[in-house]
Amino acid sequence: MYDFDKIIDRSNTDAYKLDLRERYFGTDDVIPLWVADMDFAAPPEVQKDIQNRAAHEVYGYTIRKEDFANSIVDWCNYKHNWNVDASWIEYSPGVVPALAFSVLAFSEPGDGVIINTPVYPPFYSVIADNDRKIIKSKLVKVNGRFEIDFEKFEEQASNPKTKIFILCSPHNPVGRVWSKDELLKIDEICRKHNVLVLADEIHSDLALFGHTHIPFASVSEGAAQNCISFMAPSKTFNIAGFSTSYVVSANEELLNGYKKTQNRLQLHMGHLFSGVALMSAYNKGREWLKELRAYLEANVLFIEEFLKDNLPEIKFDRPEATYLIWIDFSAWKMNQKDLKEFMIHKAKVGLNDGMTFGSEGRGYLRLNIASPQSVIEKALKQILEAKKELE
Ligand SMILES: Cc1ncc(COP(=O)(O)O)c(C=O)c1O
Repeated sequence: MYDFDKIIDRSNTDAYKLDLRERYFGTDDVIPLWVADMDFAAPPEVQKDIQNRAAHEVYGYTIRKEDFANSIVDWCNYKHNWNVDASWIEYSPGVVPALAFSVLAFSEPGDGVIINTPVYPPFYSVIADNDRKIIKSKLVKVNGRFEIDFEKFEEQASNPKTKIFILCSPHNPVGRVWSKDELLKIDEICRKHNVLVLADEIHSDLALFGHTHIPFASVSEGAAQNCISFMAPSKTFNIAGFSTSYVVSANEELLNGYKKTQNRLQLHMGHLFSGVALMSAYNKGREWLKELRAYLEANVLFIEEFLKDNLPEIKFDRPEATYLIWIDFSAWKMNQKDLKEFMIHKAKVGLNDGMTFGSEGRGYLRLNIASPQSVIEKALKQILEAKKELE
């Protein structure tokens, strides 16, 4: 019913994905398949609600009423079978800002914060820019799948200076949906060593291929008391431009600590469209999301087939969630600089440099597949043609 094949011209909308190409790639002559938003129209229901509100001529200070939290309660229940109480929820102006507030609220300069690398680049900055110490718990490949090295993780968590673990669940960029056993293990280790879990679950609605996202806070009563969850409709419904997200914690002390920092920085107000966008998406976007996920799965399968037929040496793990694919180009034996140059200047395709996710990303590039399949096909063909020319 919804048309994800439609090519939408995003020029003249100040789109990050388009207008920062010159700065990121040194040219705007690449198909932009990098930064994590989608080239699809937001659900028509959301467009309509935003347009209706915009049609009113006064844009004054605006609050979010109980129905904001109620929409979140319903959504967590519907989508993740997770019972959340409205009193556990606080608005946040973005997941990354909310992570930064939490790092400020629950650790001191010099304290350690664990992350599972390679990982979404702002995880590094929310730690380092606030003078905390980055502790890299490197993901390891076990039977062709990325996993947490729990032995090393526990060793790192047991250091008394380690105060926080930022969990990326599902994981960007490797696309893992963590299993209940893995989450329980994280819970056990973190509580044993008094490490607070900040669970970034922004990609949770985008589990694919039959995988089920399990909210970290739902795995045990102890986990619920030792974590803050970070969620948003932004990735799910392609409404990141509204800077609208929220945090959830059943632990009143943690929630109050979070709120105190957000309020201290005067960032609790949000904006006029935040409530409209979130409520509209969560209350009316269910069908759209089902179709989106089916479209994304079809894109993944298409890419798998294309690579198998044409560039079989290029590998990726089928993502269990997210519209991001972590592709291993190491078979080409190019150094990272040459790989990037090739992609930008020969293939003319704009992918994220794997190294920006950490040194573990050497040999990798990240492809954003949330575009019409015809665009993905064009990009793959350009890569193939450019590769042939090299030979
Ligand atoms: C894991 C993760 N967290 C957070 C964000 C961005 O969150 P926000 O735009 O709400 O700050 C992204 C965007 O790609 C992400 O992948």
